[in-house]
Amino acid sequence: MSANTPPTSPEKSAEGWPFWSILVVDDEQGMRNFLVKTLVPRCQFVMSAGSAEEGAELLRANHVDLIILDISLPGRSGVAWLKDLRDQGFSGEVILITAFADLETAIEALRAGASDFILKPFRVPQILNAVKHCYERSRLTRENYVLRRELSSSQCASDGLVGTSPAMTQLSHTLRRVAAVNSTVLLQGESGTGKELGARALHDLSPRAKGPFVPVNCAAMSPELIESELFGHARGAFTGANRARDGLFFYAQGGTLFLDEVAELPLAVQASLLRTLEDRTIRPVGSEQLVPLNVRILAATNRSLADEVTAGRFRKDLYYRLQVVDITLPPLREHKEDIPGLARHFMSQLTPLLGVAPLDIGDADMAGLMQYDWPGNVRELRNFVERSLILGTVNVSALYAVATRPLIGATAAVSQGSTTDLQAREKQHILSVLDSVQGDKTRAAQLLGISRRTLERRCAEWAAA
Ligand SMILES: Nc1ncnc2c1ncn2[C@@H]1O[C@H](COP(=O)(O)OP(=O)(O)OP(=O)(O)O)[C@@H](O)[C@H]1O
Ligand SMILES: [Mg+2]
Repeated sequence: MSANTPPTSPEKSAEGWPFWSILVVDDEQGMRNFLVKTLVPRCQFVMSAGSAEEGAELLRANHVDLIILDISLPGRSGVAWLKDLRDQGFSGEVILITAFADLETAIEALRAGASDFILKPFRVPQILNAVKHCYERSRLTRENYVLRRELSSSQCASDGLVGTSPAMTQLSHTLRRVAAVNSTVLLQGESGTGKELGARALHDLSPRAKGPFVPVNCAAMSPELIESELFGHARGAFTGANRARDGLFFYAQGGTLFLDEVAELPLAVQASLLRTLEDRTIRPVGSEQLVPLNVRILAATNRSLADEVTAGRFRKDLYYRLQVVDITLPPLREHKEDIPGLARHFMSQLTPLLGVAPLDIGDADMAGLMQYDWPGNVRELRNFVERSLILGTVNVSALYAVATRPLIGATAAVSQGSTTDLQAREKQHILSVLDSVQGDKTRAAQLLGISRRTLERRCAEWAAA
Protein backbone atom coordinates (compact mmCIF):
# COMPACT_ATOMS: atom_id res chain seq x y z
CA MET A 1 0.00 0.00 0.00
CA SER A 2 1.27 3.40 -0.87
CA ALA A 3 0.48 4.72 2.62
CA ASN A 4 3.39 2.65 3.92
CA THR A 5 5.88 3.20 1.16
CA PRO A 6 8.30 6.07 1.70
CA PRO A 7 8.05 8.65 -1.07
CA THR A 8 10.92 8.29 -3.52
CA SER A 9 12.42 11.15 -5.52
CA PRO A 10 9.09 12.86 -6.20
CA GLU A 11 9.84 15.05 -9.18
CA LYS A 12 11.82 12.38 -10.97
CA SER A 13 8.90 9.97 -10.85
CA ALA A 14 6.63 12.59 -12.34
CA GLU A 15 7.65 12.17 -15.97
CA GLY A 16 4.02 12.17 -17.04
CA TRP A 17 1.47 10.01 -18.76
CA PRO A 18 0.35 12.26 -21.60
CA PHE A 19 -2.02 9.83 -23.27
CA TRP A 20 -3.66 8.49 -20.16
CA SER A 21 -7.03 9.74 -19.03
CA ILE A 22 -7.74 10.03 -15.31
CA LEU A 23 -11.02 10.55 -13.48
CA VAL A 24 -10.96 11.97 -9.94
CA VAL A 25 -14.08 11.26 -7.84
CA ASP A 26 -14.21 13.01 -4.45
CA ASP A 27 -16.94 15.01 -2.75
CA GLU A 28 -14.45 17.49 -1.23
CA GLN A 29 -13.91 20.31 -3.70
CA GLY A 30 -10.49 21.12 -2.15
CA MET A 31 -9.24 17.57 -2.69
CA ARG A 32 -10.54 17.51 -6.27
CA ASN A 33 -8.79 20.78 -7.06
CA PHE A 34 -5.56 19.58 -5.48
CA LEU A 35 -5.54 16.32 -7.45
CA VAL A 36 -6.47 17.94 -10.75
CA LYS A 37 -3.80 20.62 -10.27
CA THR A 38 -1.19 17.95 -9.49
CA LEU A 39 -2.09 15.72 -12.42
CA VAL A 40 -2.85 18.16 -15.23
CA PRO A 41 0.78 19.04 -16.05
CA ARG A 42 1.53 15.32 -16.46
CA CYS A 43 -1.60 14.06 -18.07
CA GLN A 44 -3.61 15.61 -20.84
CA PHE A 45 -7.01 14.23 -19.88
CA VAL A 46 -8.05 14.76 -16.27
CA MET A 47 -11.72 14.88 -15.30
CA SER A 48 -13.32 15.27 -11.89
CA ALA A 49 -16.66 14.45 -10.31
CA GLY A 50 -18.20 15.11 -6.87
CA SER A 51 -20.24 11.91 -6.61
CA ALA A 52 -20.48 8.35 -7.90
CA GLU A 53 -23.45 9.38 -10.10
CA GLU A 54 -21.49 12.21 -11.70
CA GLY A 55 -18.51 9.89 -12.09
CA ALA A 56 -20.67 7.24 -13.77
CA GLU A 57 -21.93 9.83 -16.23
CA LEU A 58 -18.40 10.88 -17.16
CA LEU A 59 -17.42 7.24 -17.55
CA ARG A 60 -20.26 6.62 -19.96
CA ALA A 61 -19.11 9.46 -22.19
CA ASN A 62 -15.33 9.16 -21.93
CA HIS A 63 -12.59 6.62 -22.05
CA VAL A 64 -10.88 6.41 -18.62
CA ASP A 65 -7.63 4.60 -17.79
CA LEU A 66 -7.48 5.37 -14.07
CA ILE A 67 -10.02 6.40 -11.42
CA ILE A 68 -8.83 8.04 -8.23
CA LEU A 69 -11.76 7.35 -5.97
CA ASP A 70 -12.68 8.57 -2.51
CA ILE A 71 -14.16 5.78 -0.37
CA SER A 72 -16.62 7.91 1.59
CA LEU A 73 -18.84 9.51 -0.98
CA PRO A 74 -22.27 10.92 -0.20
CA GLY A 75 -24.98 8.32 -0.71
CA ARG A 76 -22.89 5.51 -2.13
CA SER A 77 -19.56 4.18 -0.85
CA GLY A 78 -16.66 4.19 -3.28
CA VAL A 79 -16.05 0.48 -2.63
CA ALA A 80 -19.65 -0.47 -3.53
CA TRP A 81 -19.46 1.59 -6.71
CA LEU A 82 -16.13 0.02 -7.60
CA LYS A 83 -17.65 -3.48 -7.27
CA ASP A 84 -20.38 -2.47 -9.72
CA LEU A 85 -17.87 -0.96 -12.11
CA ARG A 86 -15.82 -4.17 -12.17
CA ASP A 87 -18.99 -6.23 -12.71
CA GLN A 88 -19.82 -4.00 -15.66
CA GLY A 89 -16.43 -4.71 -17.14
CA PHE A 90 -14.40 -1.62 -16.26
CA SER A 91 -10.83 -2.88 -16.63
CA GLY A 92 -8.87 0.30 -15.88
CA GLU A 93 -6.82 1.03 -12.78
CA VAL A 94 -8.39 2.35 -9.55
CA ILE A 95 -6.68 4.08 -6.64
CA LEU A 96 -8.87 4.39 -3.54
CA ILE A 97 -8.30 7.24 -1.11
CA THR A 98 -9.71 7.62 2.39
CA ALA A 99 -9.28 9.48 5.64
CA PHE A 100 -10.47 6.60 7.81
CA ALA A 101 -8.69 3.41 7.10
CA ASP A 102 -8.47 0.17 8.89
CA LEU A 103 -7.05 -3.07 7.63
CA GLU A 104 -10.46 -4.52 6.86
CA THR A 105 -11.47 -1.59 4.65
CA ALA A 106 -8.18 -1.87 2.82
CA ILE A 107 -8.65 -5.59 2.21
CA GLU A 108 -12.24 -5.06 1.09
CA ALA A 109 -11.11 -2.33 -1.30
CA LEU A 110 -8.44 -4.51 -2.87
CA ARG A 111 -10.93 -7.39 -3.16
CA ALA A 112 -13.36 -5.07 -4.91
CA GLY A 113 -10.71 -4.53 -7.56
CA ALA A 114 -8.72 -1.50 -6.42
CA SER A 115 -5.14 -1.36 -7.63
CA ASP A 116 -3.93 0.75 -4.73
CA PHE A 117 -5.06 2.39 -1.53
CA ILE A 118 -3.85 5.72 -0.09
CA LEU A 119 -4.49 7.40 3.25
CA LYS A 120 -5.49 11.06 3.49
CA PRO A 121 -3.77 13.37 4.07
CA PHE A 122 -1.14 12.47 1.50
CA ARG A 123 1.54 14.43 -0.23
CA VAL A 124 2.15 15.01 -3.92
CA PRO A 125 4.93 12.38 -4.28
CA GLN A 126 2.71 9.67 -2.81
CA ILE A 127 -0.11 10.13 -5.28
CA LEU A 128 2.30 10.53 -8.18
CA ASN A 129 4.07 7.32 -7.24
CA ALA A 130 0.77 5.49 -6.99
CA VAL A 131 -0.29 6.74 -10.43
CA LYS A 132 3.09 5.80 -11.83
CA HIS A 133 2.76 2.24 -10.49
CA CYS A 134 -0.70 1.91 -12.01
CA TYR A 135 0.60 3.20 -15.31
CA GLU A 136 3.49 0.72 -15.29
CA ARG A 137 1.18 -2.16 -14.43
CA SER A 138 -1.21 -1.29 -17.23
CA ARG A 139 1.71 -0.96 -19.65
CA LEU A 140 2.96 -4.41 -18.61
CA THR A 141 -0.51 -5.89 -19.05
CA ARG A 142 -0.61 -4.53 -22.57
CA GLU A 143 2.90 -5.76 -23.31
CA ASN A 144 2.09 -9.23 -21.99
CA TYR A 145 -1.00 -9.34 -24.12
CA VAL A 146 0.96 -8.38 -27.20
CA LEU A 147 3.73 -10.89 -26.42
CA ARG A 148 1.23 -13.68 -25.93
CA ARG A 149 -0.32 -12.88 -29.31
CA GLU A 150 3.07 -12.86 -30.94
CA LEU A 151 4.10 -16.13 -29.32
CA SER A 152 0.90 -17.80 -30.38
CA SER A 153 1.43 -16.77 -33.97
CA SER A 154 3.84 -18.94 -35.94
CA GLN A 155 6.00 -15.99 -36.99
CA CYS A 156 9.55 -16.43 -35.84
CA ALA A 157 11.29 -13.36 -34.49
CA SER A 158 13.95 -12.13 -36.87
CA ASP A 159 17.24 -10.33 -36.37
CA GLY A 160 16.67 -7.78 -39.07
CA LEU A 161 17.17 -7.33 -42.76
CA VAL A 162 20.15 -9.09 -44.29
CA GLY A 163 21.62 -7.92 -47.58
CA THR A 164 24.31 -5.64 -48.97
CA SER A 165 23.07 -5.21 -52.55
CA PRO A 166 22.29 -1.66 -53.72
CA ALA A 167 18.55 -2.48 -53.46
CA MET A 168 18.84 -3.61 -49.84
CA THR A 169 21.21 -0.81 -48.86
CA GLN A 170 18.75 1.69 -50.28
CA LEU A 171 15.91 -0.04 -48.43
CA SER A 172 17.77 0.07 -45.08
CA HIS A 173 18.50 3.73 -45.63
CA THR A 174 14.84 4.48 -46.37
CA LEU A 175 13.65 2.48 -43.35
CA ARG A 176 15.98 4.39 -41.07
CA ARG A 177 14.82 7.77 -42.34
CA VAL A 178 11.15 6.87 -42.26
CA ALA A 179 11.40 5.24 -38.81
CA ALA A 180 12.28 8.58 -37.25
CA VAL A 181 9.01 10.24 -38.25
CA ASN A 182 5.49 9.35 -37.21
CA SER A 183 3.94 9.06 -40.67
CA THR A 184 1.75 6.20 -41.77
CA VAL A 185 3.64 3.83 -44.06
CA LEU A 186 2.41 1.40 -46.69
CA LEU A 187 4.78 -1.51 -47.38
CA GLN A 188 4.19 -3.18 -50.73
CA GLY A 189 5.89 -6.07 -52.43
CA GLU A 190 5.45 -9.66 -53.51
CA SER A 191 4.85 -12.37 -50.95
CA GLY A 192 7.94 -13.28 -48.92
CA THR A 193 9.95 -10.14 -49.73
CA GLY A 194 10.18 -9.06 -46.07
CA LYS A 195 7.30 -6.62 -45.57
CA GLU A 196 6.63 -7.78 -42.03
CA LEU A 197 10.33 -7.71 -41.25
CA GLY A 198 10.47 -4.16 -42.67
CA ALA A 199 7.53 -3.12 -40.47
CA ARG A 200 9.28 -4.48 -37.39
CA ALA A 201 12.43 -2.64 -38.35
CA LEU A 202 10.44 0.59 -38.71
CA HIS A 203 9.14 0.12 -35.18
CA ASP A 204 12.46 -0.97 -33.66
CA LEU A 205 14.31 1.97 -35.18
CA SER A 206 11.63 4.48 -34.18
CA PRO A 207 11.32 6.57 -31.02
CA ARG A 208 8.42 4.23 -30.19
CA ALA A 209 10.72 1.19 -29.98
CA LYS A 210 10.05 0.76 -26.26
CA GLY A 211 6.29 0.78 -26.86
CA PRO A 212 4.33 -2.22 -28.14
CA PHE A 213 4.47 -3.51 -31.72
CA VAL A 214 1.08 -5.03 -32.49
CA PRO A 215 0.85 -6.99 -35.76
CA VAL A 216 -2.66 -7.66 -37.01
CA ASN A 217 -3.30 -10.04 -39.88
CA CYS A 218 -6.41 -8.58 -41.50
CA ALA A 219 -6.88 -11.73 -43.60
CA ALA A 220 -6.94 -14.03 -40.59
CA MET A 221 -9.74 -12.34 -38.65
CA SER A 222 -13.39 -13.09 -39.21
CA PRO A 223 -15.07 -10.19 -41.04
CA GLU A 224 -17.82 -10.01 -38.38
CA LEU A 225 -15.39 -9.60 -35.49
CA ILE A 226 -12.62 -7.58 -37.09
CA GLU A 227 -14.09 -4.19 -36.17
CA SER A 228 -14.42 -5.06 -32.50
CA GLU A 229 -11.01 -6.78 -32.50
CA LEU A 230 -9.46 -3.56 -33.76
CA PHE A 231 -11.47 -0.93 -31.96
CA GLY A 232 -12.79 -2.82 -28.92
CA HIS A 233 -16.44 -2.92 -27.95
CA ALA A 234 -18.79 -1.69 -25.25
CA ARG A 235 -20.71 -4.09 -23.02
CA GLY A 236 -23.84 -5.26 -24.83
CA ALA A 237 -22.60 -3.94 -28.21
CA PHE A 238 -23.71 -7.21 -29.82
CA THR A 239 -24.99 -10.63 -28.78
CA GLY A 240 -22.40 -12.28 -26.60
CA ALA A 241 -20.61 -9.03 -25.67
CA ASN A 242 -21.14 -9.54 -21.93
CA ARG A 243 -18.22 -7.34 -21.01
CA ALA A 244 -16.58 -4.31 -22.49
CA ARG A 245 -13.32 -5.20 -24.24
CA ASP A 246 -10.35 -3.16 -25.39
CA GLY A 247 -9.30 -3.48 -29.02
CA LEU A 248 -5.89 -3.98 -30.58
CA PHE A 249 -5.53 -0.26 -31.26
CA PHE A 250 -5.78 0.27 -27.53
CA TYR A 251 -3.09 -2.31 -26.85
CA ALA A 252 -0.85 -0.51 -29.32
CA GLN A 253 -1.05 2.81 -27.41
CA GLY A 254 2.39 4.40 -27.31
CA GLY A 255 3.64 2.03 -30.02
CA THR A 256 2.93 0.77 -33.52
CA LEU A 257 0.00 -1.10 -35.04
CA PHE A 258 0.89 -3.12 -38.14
CA LEU A 259 -2.07 -3.88 -40.40
CA ASP A 260 -0.82 -6.81 -42.45
CA GLU A 261 -2.73 -7.82 -45.61
CA VAL A 262 -4.65 -4.57 -45.37
CA ALA A 263 -6.33 -5.19 -48.75
CA GLU A 264 -8.46 -7.83 -47.02
CA LEU A 265 -10.21 -5.33 -44.73
CA PRO A 266 -13.98 -5.28 -45.34
CA LEU A 267 -15.26 -1.97 -46.73
CA ALA A 268 -17.17 -1.13 -43.51
CA VAL A 269 -13.98 -1.47 -41.45
CA GLN A 270 -12.08 0.58 -44.04
CA ALA A 271 -14.49 3.45 -43.26
CA SER A 272 -13.79 3.20 -39.51
CA LEU A 273 -10.06 3.03 -40.15
CA LEU A 274 -10.21 6.13 -42.31
CA ARG A 275 -11.98 8.01 -39.51
CA THR A 276 -9.33 6.86 -37.06
CA LEU A 277 -6.52 8.04 -39.32
CA GLU A 278 -8.19 11.42 -39.77
CA ASP A 279 -9.23 12.11 -36.16
CA ARG A 280 -6.55 10.14 -34.29
CA THR A 281 -9.25 8.69 -32.08
CA ILE A 282 -10.98 5.32 -31.88
CA ARG A 283 -14.59 4.59 -31.04
CA PRO A 284 -15.25 1.13 -29.57
CA VAL A 285 -18.14 -0.71 -31.26
CA GLY A 286 -21.46 0.18 -29.60
CA SER A 287 -19.96 3.06 -27.64
CA GLU A 288 -20.22 6.81 -27.86
CA GLN A 289 -16.76 7.28 -26.37
CA LEU A 290 -13.89 8.61 -28.40
CA VAL A 291 -10.53 7.35 -27.17
CA PRO A 292 -7.55 9.55 -28.07
CA LEU A 293 -4.97 7.53 -29.96
CA ASN A 294 -1.20 7.66 -29.81
CA VAL A 295 -0.40 4.89 -32.26
CA ARG A 296 1.67 4.82 -35.40
CA ILE A 297 0.02 2.87 -38.17
CA LEU A 298 1.91 0.71 -40.68
CA ALA A 299 0.17 -1.33 -43.35
CA ALA A 300 1.29 -3.99 -45.81
CA THR A 301 -0.14 -5.76 -48.80
CA ASN A 302 1.13 -8.14 -51.46
CA ARG A 303 -1.62 -7.06 -53.83
CA SER A 304 -1.54 -3.81 -55.71
CA LEU A 305 -3.72 -1.48 -53.64
CA ALA A 306 -4.08 0.76 -56.69
CA ASP A 307 -5.68 -2.20 -58.54
CA GLU A 308 -7.90 -2.92 -55.56
CA VAL A 309 -9.05 0.71 -55.67
CA THR A 310 -9.82 0.44 -59.39
CA ALA A 311 -11.76 -2.76 -58.76
CA GLY A 312 -13.84 -0.95 -56.11
CA ARG A 313 -12.66 -3.22 -53.31
CA PHE A 314 -10.54 -0.63 -51.52
CA ARG A 315 -11.45 2.95 -50.63
CA LYS A 316 -9.44 5.47 -52.60
CA ASP A 317 -9.37 7.99 -49.73
CA LEU A 318 -8.03 5.32 -47.36
CA TYR A 319 -5.42 4.30 -49.92
CA TYR A 320 -4.08 7.87 -50.00
CA ARG A 321 -4.17 8.11 -46.21
CA LEU A 322 -2.16 4.90 -45.83
CA GLN A 323 0.47 5.58 -48.40
CA VAL A 324 1.77 8.83 -46.91
CA VAL A 325 5.06 7.01 -47.30
CA ASP A 326 5.19 4.12 -49.73
CA ILE A 327 7.97 1.54 -49.44
CA THR A 328 8.23 -1.22 -52.02
CA LEU A 329 10.31 -4.28 -51.17
CA PRO A 330 12.22 -5.69 -54.14
CA PRO A 331 11.67 -9.29 -55.24
CA LEU A 332 14.67 -11.52 -54.52
CA ARG A 333 15.33 -12.09 -58.25
CA GLU A 334 16.20 -8.38 -58.43
CA HIS A 335 18.93 -8.62 -55.77
CA LYS A 336 20.33 -12.07 -56.34
CA GLU A 337 23.73 -11.01 -55.04
CA ASP A 338 22.22 -11.21 -51.54
CA ILE A 339 21.39 -14.92 -51.89
CA PRO A 340 24.69 -16.29 -50.43
CA GLY A 341 24.49 -13.93 -47.43
CA LEU A 342 20.84 -14.75 -46.84
CA ALA A 343 21.44 -18.50 -47.17
CA ARG A 344 24.28 -18.33 -44.61
CA HIS A 345 22.14 -16.17 -42.34
CA PHE A 346 19.26 -18.68 -42.37
CA MET A 347 21.69 -21.56 -41.93
CA SER A 348 23.08 -20.07 -38.71
CA GLN A 349 19.66 -18.89 -37.56
CA LEU A 350 17.93 -22.23 -38.10
CA THR A 351 20.63 -24.72 -37.07
CA PRO A 352 20.21 -24.16 -33.31
CA LEU A 353 16.43 -23.84 -33.65
CA LEU A 354 16.14 -27.20 -35.39
CA GLY A 355 18.87 -28.80 -33.29
CA VAL A 356 20.69 -30.15 -36.35
CA ALA A 357 24.24 -29.92 -37.70
CA PRO A 358 25.01 -27.06 -40.12
CA LEU A 359 25.43 -27.88 -43.81
CA ASP A 360 28.02 -26.65 -46.23
CA ILE A 361 26.72 -25.10 -49.41
CA GLY A 362 29.37 -25.73 -52.05
CA ASP A 363 30.19 -23.31 -54.91
CA ALA A 364 28.24 -25.26 -57.52
CA ASP A 365 25.16 -25.43 -55.31
CA MET A 366 25.45 -21.73 -54.49
CA ALA A 367 25.65 -20.93 -58.20
CA GLY A 368 22.49 -22.99 -58.66
CA LEU A 369 20.74 -21.04 -55.92
CA MET A 370 21.76 -17.77 -57.56
CA GLN A 371 20.39 -18.80 -60.93
CA TYR A 372 17.00 -19.74 -59.60
CA ASP A 373 14.30 -17.05 -59.70
CA TRP A 374 12.74 -17.54 -56.24
CA PRO A 375 9.11 -16.73 -56.97
CA GLY A 376 8.41 -17.13 -53.23
CA ASN A 377 11.26 -14.65 -52.56
CA VAL A 378 13.23 -14.65 -49.30
CA ARG A 379 10.66 -16.85 -47.57
CA GLU A 380 11.16 -19.54 -50.21
CA LEU A 381 14.92 -19.36 -49.71
CA ARG A 382 14.46 -19.64 -45.96
CA ASN A 383 12.17 -22.64 -46.46
CA PHE A 384 14.71 -24.20 -48.80
CA VAL A 385 17.47 -23.87 -46.19
CA GLU A 386 15.16 -25.25 -43.50
CA ARG A 387 14.18 -28.19 -45.70
CA SER A 388 17.84 -28.88 -46.49
CA LEU A 389 18.73 -28.86 -42.80
CA ILE A 390 15.90 -31.23 -41.96
CA LEU A 391 16.74 -33.61 -44.80
CA GLY A 392 20.49 -33.27 -44.14
CA THR A 393 21.34 -32.42 -47.74
CA VAL A 394 21.39 -29.41 -50.05
CA ASN A 395 19.49 -30.58 -53.08
CA VAL A 396 19.50 -27.69 -55.55
CA SER A 397 18.41 -29.83 -58.49
CA ALA A 398 15.22 -30.70 -56.60
CA LEU A 399 14.55 -26.98 -56.44
CA TYR A 400 14.63 -26.80 -60.22
CA ALA A 401 12.97 -30.12 -60.87
CA VAL A 402 10.06 -29.64 -58.53
CA ALA A 403 10.33 -26.01 -57.49
CA THR A 404 7.62 -26.06 -54.88
CA ARG A 405 5.99 -22.71 -55.27
CA PRO A 406 5.71 -22.31 -59.04
CA LEU A 407 4.97 -25.97 -59.42
CA ILE A 408 2.09 -26.06 -57.03
CA GLY A 409 -0.64 -24.29 -58.91
CA ALA A 410 1.40 -24.20 -62.12
CA THR A 411 0.09 -27.60 -63.10
CA ALA A 412 -3.10 -25.94 -64.27
CA ALA A 413 -1.20 -23.55 -66.49
CA VAL A 414 1.00 -25.91 -68.50
CA SER A 415 0.11 -27.81 -71.63
CA GLN A 416 -1.80 -31.05 -71.39
CA GLY A 417 1.11 -33.30 -72.34
CA SER A 418 3.42 -32.43 -69.45
CA THR A 419 0.71 -31.82 -66.85
CA THR A 420 0.48 -35.44 -65.72
CA ASP A 421 4.23 -35.66 -65.39
CA LEU A 422 4.40 -32.46 -63.40
CA GLN A 423 1.54 -33.54 -61.18
CA ALA A 424 3.27 -36.82 -60.43
CA ARG A 425 6.47 -35.03 -59.47
CA GLU A 426 4.59 -32.53 -57.38
CA LYS A 427 2.87 -35.37 -55.55
CA GLN A 428 6.14 -37.20 -55.01
CA HIS A 429 7.78 -34.05 -53.68
CA ILE A 430 4.94 -33.16 -51.33
CA LEU A 431 4.80 -36.71 -50.00
CA SER A 432 8.54 -36.73 -49.35
CA VAL A 433 8.32 -33.45 -47.44
CA LEU A 434 5.32 -34.78 -45.48
CA ASP A 435 7.32 -37.88 -44.73
CA SER A 436 10.28 -35.85 -43.49
CA VAL A 437 8.08 -34.18 -40.88
CA GLN A 438 6.20 -37.32 -39.87
CA GLY A 439 2.99 -36.23 -41.55
CA ASP A 440 2.69 -32.88 -39.74
CA LYS A 441 0.68 -30.94 -42.33
CA THR A 442 1.16 -27.51 -40.80
CA ARG A 443 4.90 -28.00 -40.76
CA ALA A 444 4.96 -29.49 -44.27
CA ALA A 445 2.91 -26.58 -45.63
CA GLN A 446 5.41 -24.16 -44.07
CA LEU A 447 8.33 -25.97 -45.63
CA LEU A 448 6.63 -26.10 -49.01
CA GLY A 449 5.77 -22.42 -48.81
CA ILE A 450 2.06 -23.09 -49.40
CA SER A 451 -0.97 -22.75 -47.15
CA ARG A 452 -2.17 -25.70 -45.14
CA ARG A 453 -5.48 -25.41 -46.98
CA THR A 454 -3.74 -25.88 -50.37
CA LEU A 455 -1.86 -28.88 -49.02
CA GLU A 456 -5.05 -30.44 -47.69
CA ARG A 457 -6.79 -29.82 -51.00
CA ARG A 458 -3.98 -31.67 -52.82
CA CYS A 459 -4.13 -34.61 -50.41
CA ALA A 460 -7.91 -34.78 -50.81
CA GLU A 461 -7.55 -34.78 -54.61
CA TRP A 462 -5.13 -37.72 -54.50
CA ALA A 463 -7.38 -39.57 -52.09
CA ALA A 464 -10.34 -39.07 -54.46
CA ALA A 465 -8.37 -40.06 -57.59
N1 LIG B 1 16.20 -9.15 -46.02
C1 LIG B 1 15.91 -10.16 -45.21
N2 LIG B 1 16.81 -10.59 -44.32
C2 LIG B 1 16.54 -11.63 -43.51
N3 LIG B 1 15.39 -12.28 -43.50
C3 LIG B 1 14.44 -11.89 -44.37
C4 LIG B 1 14.64 -10.80 -45.26
N4 LIG B 1 13.52 -10.65 -45.99
C5 LIG B 1 12.66 -11.57 -45.57
N5 LIG B 1 13.20 -12.32 -44.59
C6 LIG B 1 12.58 -13.48 -43.93
O1 LIG B 1 11.75 -14.10 -44.89
C7 LIG B 1 10.51 -14.52 -44.33
C8 LIG B 1 9.39 -13.79 -45.05
O2 LIG B 1 9.43 -12.40 -44.73
P1 LIG B 1 8.12 -11.58 -44.36
O3 LIG B 1 7.20 -12.42 -43.54
O4 LIG B 1 8.52 -10.28 -43.78
O5 LIG B 1 7.51 -11.42 -45.83
P2 LIG B 1 6.21 -10.67 -46.32
O6 LIG B 1 6.62 -9.73 -47.39
O7 LIG B 1 5.48 -10.12 -45.15
O8 LIG B 1 5.38 -11.86 -46.99
P3 LIG B 1 3.80 -12.07 -47.17
O9 LIG B 1 3.32 -11.05 -48.18
O10 LIG B 1 3.66 -13.46 -47.70
O11 LIG B 1 3.17 -11.89 -45.83
C9 LIG B 1 10.59 -14.19 -42.86
O12 LIG B 1 11.06 -15.34 -42.19
C10 LIG B 1 11.63 -13.08 -42.80
O13 LIG B 1 12.25 -13.06 -41.56
MG1 LIG C 1 3.65 -10.71 -44.32
